[in-house]
Amino acid sequence: PTFLKVKANKLANPFFIGMAIKASQLTSGSPYDVILKNEFSSISAEYEMKMDQISTASGVYNWTVADKIVAYGNSNGINVHGHALVWHNSVPTWLKNFSGTDAEFALEVKKYITDVVTHYAGKVKSWDVLNEAVDDNGGAMRNTIFLQRMGANYVKDCFQWAKNAAIAAGDTKLLLFYNDYATSTNIPKQDKVFSIVDDLKASNLIDGVGFQMHNNYLSPTKAQIETDLNKAVAKGLKIHVSELDIQVNQSNDITTFTNERRLLQKEKYKEIVKIYNALPAASKYALTVWGMKDNESWIPFSTELNHPGDDWPLLYDSNFAIKSSHTGFLEGL
Ligand code: XIL
Repeated sequence: PTFLKVKANKLANPFFIGMAIKASQLTSGSPYDVILKNEFSSISAEYEMKMDQISTASGVYNWTVADKIVAYGNSNGINVHGHALVWHNSVPTWLKNFSGTDAEFALEVKKYITDVVTHYAGKVKSWDVLNEAVDDNGGAMRNTIFLQRMGANYVKDCFQWAKNAAIAAGDTKLLLFYNDYATSTNIPKQDKVFSIVDDLKASNLIDGVGFQMHNNYLSPTKAQIETDLNKAVAKGLKIHVSELDIQVNQSNDITTFTNERRLLQKEKYKEIVKIYNALPAASKYALTVWGMKDNESWIPFSTELNHPGDDWPLLYDSNFAIKSSHTGFLEGL
């Protein structure tokens, strides 16, 4: 079979093929490890490089697991994308309960960003500095602890701190991303994301936008995705399709993966890869899939997503066999 990264590397304008991983999956010689090295050229930690995993108390860090992930990438010639410095769903308990003033709270966030960017300087090539800062209804800022404690300028502050830390550590090439979801279909949200991005760009604090793309077999449409991505292209930013998966059972109307859905999913994978591939060379970075095997995806039975049933959103089945979606992905390259 042709491997994804092998085909991608032969393109006139190559880009990384990324995979969301967990440290426990990296056992050398395991089927997972073999596929990862054959097919993928970039990794993102699915959750183990988030704040609630790394930060155990003020100024106290548990680097063990995250270091393992970064070392795996570095020693195998695989790009490491950092996900994510600031996300409202991964605030450590100590910070949630922080009893200091708002100014002291901001200093804690600054310290965290500074220490993590410094620790991984030169090893992590890009960071999602801010994840999901915009609300789903009406395009307001999401009402998170960061907004409440630090005010509306907090996004810019976080990017500034990340950039300062990288430069101080001698890393002038670190790429800083803003990452969010559903911007193709939720236009007020799209507008707000791009106004944040414009502001960051005007201050020279951002390199790219991550479009999560937790999609389904019907939506978004090709036109919706193209319009969304091209807004970032027009601003001279890099585009990371950062968390791609394609659900086929979001309304819980099937109990087994039907051939009909299999083919529709294949076409959707192909469509998005083609759209990405057609972007200008300078706009491309990585196209990252959010998990390898269907049975390890975060989608099936997810309470976070209100997804009550099973699903088959990825490129491999539970036995590590390639699916039609994988063929569709390859055909898009
Ligand atoms: C999810 C992971 O897949 C889960 O394993 C974890 O428990 C929660 O986070 N948007 C994001 C990702 O930016 O970090 C989320 O990942 C999925 C939604």
